[in-house]
Amino acid sequence: MGIRIEGNLFYIQSKEMSMIIENKEGDLLLRHIGGKIAKYHGSNAILEKDHAFSGNPTPDNRTFSYDTQRQVFGVHGFGDFRQPSLKIAHANNELTQFKLTSSEILHGAKEATRLPNPHTTEDAETLVLTLEDKVAALELKLYYTAYADCNTISTHTEVRNLSDKAVVINRALSTMLDVPAGNYDMVTLQGAYAREKTVRRQKVEQGIFTVASNRGASGHSHTPAMILCEHTATEDAGSALALQLLYSGNFQAFVQKNQLNEVRLGIGINDDNFAWQLSAGDSFETPVALMTFSNQGLGKLTQESQLFIQDHIMPKQFAHAERPILINNWEATYFDFKKEKLLDLADEASKLGIELFVLDDGWFGNRFDDNRALGDWVVNEEKIGGPLNDLIAEVHAKGLKFGLWFEPEMISVDSDLYRAHPDWAIQAEGRGHTYSRNQLVLNLANPDVVAYIKAAIDKILTENAIDYVKWDYNRNITNIGNGDTYLATQMQSHAYMLGLYDLVSYLTEKHSNILFESCSGGGGRNDLGMMRYFPQVWASDNTDAISRLLIQYGSSYLFPTISMGSHVSASPNHQMGRTTPIETRGNVAMMGNLGYELDLTSLPENDKEVIAAQVAHYKDIRPVIQFGKHYRLINPEQGSNEAAVEFVHEDKVVVTYVRTLSTIETIETTLKLKGLEEESLYRLQETGQVFSGAELMYAGLTVVLPQGDYLSKQYYFVKQ
Ligand code: GLA
Repeated sequence: MGIRIEGNLFYIQSKEMSMIIENKEGDLLLRHIGGKIAKYHGSNAILEKDHAFSGNPTPDNRTFSYDTQRQVFGVHGFGDFRQPSLKIAHANNELTQFKLTSSEILHGAKEATRLPNPHTTEDAETLVLTLEDKVAALELKLYYTAYADCNTISTHTEVRNLSDKAVVINRALSTMLDVPAGNYDMVTLQGAYAREKTVRRQKVEQGIFTVASNRGASGHSHTPAMILCEHTATEDAGSALALQLLYSGNFQAFVQKNQLNEVRLGIGINDDNFAWQLSAGDSFETPVALMTFSNQGLGKLTQESQLFIQDHIMPKQFAHAERPILINNWEATYFDFKKEKLLDLADEASKLGIELFVLDDGWFGNRFDDNRALGDWVVNEEKIGGPLNDLIAEVHAKGLKFGLWFEPEMISVDSDLYRAHPDWAIQAEGRGHTYSRNQLVLNLANPDVVAYIKAAIDKILTENAIDYVKWDYNRNITNIGNGDTYLATQMQSHAYMLGLYDLVSYLTEKHSNILFESCSGGGGRNDLGMMRYFPQVWASDNTDAISRLLIQYGSSYLFPTISMGSHVSASPNHQMGRTTPIETRGNVAMMGNLGYELDLTSLPENDKEVIAAQVAHYKDIRPVIQFGKHYRLINPEQGSNEAAVEFVHEDKVVVTYVRTLSTIETIETTLKLKGLEEESLYRLQETGQVFSGAELMYAGLTVVLPQGDYLSKQYYFVKQ
C-alpha cells in the first residue's frame, strides 16, 4: 500500500489497485493501471516495434516513438498524433516535451489550491513527479495520491512558468492514461433536463469519443465521468476503470482508439471557453481527478466509487449522518403560498412523522413568479406573515427542522440588485442579454460579486435558525465577455468556478451544522465538485416514480445513495402525467433519501395512512439505504420493464423490485440476491419467514405480483 520507488519504477498502490509508471530516460511511461501488482518485472515488446509514420525522437532508434508509447502526461508535438494532455502557447509554438527531474513521496496529499479536494486519512501517501521542459522553461508536477481503504487513486497536475515571459495554457487535463490495445466498452452517464444520468454503454471504436460540457456547469447532458471496461465485463465479472472529475464547470472526458487499437483516456477542464494566461513565476493547478478500479465487474466498481465519495468527498459531518425525511412545498404550492398554507403543510407533515420542512422558491423580495427578484435576498415578510425566524420557530415547535431555498448565483433584470449593479451580470459589451427563465448569471469571476453573495446569504443563515439549505442554479452561462481582453474573457469560466468554490467553502464551513443540498433544475450540476461541499443533491425535477427508476439507476452508478434526494409527489405526476400507486411512489423514493413534495393537506385519508407507515418504516431501514452496500439485481435499461436493487448493511437487507407494465411473462420474477452470508439465516420481517443466505443468493427470492401497471414490492430481511 502507498507509494514505492524502486529503481526506475514508481508504484502507486491503493487497497487492491496499482498504478505503475516507469521513468525511461526522463519519459514517463504507464506500465500498468488496474489490479494490484506487488512487483512488476515485464516490459512490453510490441511497444518497441518500428511503426511507419510514427516519429522517432532519436535518429538511431527507430523503435521508440511517442505515438506508440503508453504515457501519462506532458509530451505534445513530437510524433504522438493522439490527443495531447497539455497545450501551452510559448514562444511561437505549443510543443512540450517534459522530462522527469525529481520525485518525492509525501504523507497525506498535496491539495489543489482553491479547488475541491478529497479528504485524506492518516495512511494516504502522495507521489510527486516533477518534470521540466527546458526549452519552454516550464515545470510540470504530477500528483498521485494512494488510499489504503479504497480502490481509488486521486491525481492532479500543476504547471509552473519558469521563464520571464507570460505563456498561455490552452489545454490542461487533470489526467491522461494510455492503456493496452484491446476490446473495450465505454460507460457514460448522459441525459437532459428531467432525464438525468441515463447509463449508456457503447463499444470503443477507432476515433475519439468525448463527453463534455461548455455550459459553465457540468450540466444535465453529461456527467464528468467515464468508465472504461472490458467488452465482456458484466455486473459481477471483468475489469473496469472509472475516471471522475471534482469539478462543476466546463469539462471534457474522452476515449481515443488509434490506428493500432491503442486506447488513451483523458479528463479535465474543457478547452472550449478556456485559456489561462500564466505570468512569469506563476503556476496553474488543474481540478482533481479520481481513478477507481474494479476487477469484479461494474457492480463492484459502483461500490468502490460510492465508498470513496461517501468517505473521502462528502463533508465529513454528513457522510455518515442519517438524512432527515423532508416535505418540500414546491410541487405542493409553487409560488402560491401564505404563512397559513405553509403551517398547515408543516402540521400535516409533523403528524405523519416527517422531520424537515423545506420552504422552496418565492419567500424573498418581489418573487411572485420566476421572472424576477433573484439577487434580492431579503425576506418578504408580507408573504410569509412576519419575520422568518417567527415562521421557523412555529415550524420547530411542530417538531420539524427548517430548510430554505436559495439561488445565489443568479440575478433577475427585474431586481434591486440589477438596478444597482447591472455590470455584475455575465455579459459582453454591445450584445444585449440571452435570457433563460428570464434570469442572468452573476459573474463570480469578480471578487466583489462573490463578497456580496457571501454577505447576503451569510446574513440570512446567521440571523435565522436554518437547518437545511437547497442551493439552486437554474440556467447555463452565455454571452461570456466580461474580460477587458480576449484572454481575460477566456479565463472567465474557470475563474467563475474558483469564485464559486470560494463562496461555497466559506458558507459551508461557517455554517457547518446546516445540511446543504445542491440543485440545478434537478441534476444539472450533480457532480463531485459540488458534492465536496453539498452532501446531498436533488437528482431530478422529474418526480415520476417510473422515470426515477432510470435516473436513480444512473445517479447511483457512481454516486452514493445517501447523496440522492428522492421524493414522493402527486399522482397524476406533474411532469409526466402518469398515475402511479402511492406504494410504488414510496418504494422508489425509499431507494434514496426519502422526502415528500405534494400537498399533504388535500390527500385522501388512505394515502395519509400509507405515508405515515412509509415514514415510520423508512426510519427503520434508513441506515441500510444510506450506509449500506448497493447491489444492482435487475437494471432498468431503456425499454426494460423491471428494476431491482438490494442494499446490505450489517445484519439488515432491503430489496426493492418494481415492474413497470403488466405483462403475461412478468407475473413472477426470481431475484438472486448478492452479498449475503451463505450459512446465515435471514428473517423476512413482513411474514416472519426465514431463509438461508445461500437460498436467497442461489435459489433466489421469487416475487409474485398481481396484474397491473407500476406495481412494486419491497422486502426487508434481518439476519438472525
Ligand atoms: C428548480 C428546482 C425545483 C424548484 C424550482 C423553484 O426548477 O429544480 O426543485 O426549486 O427551481 O423555482
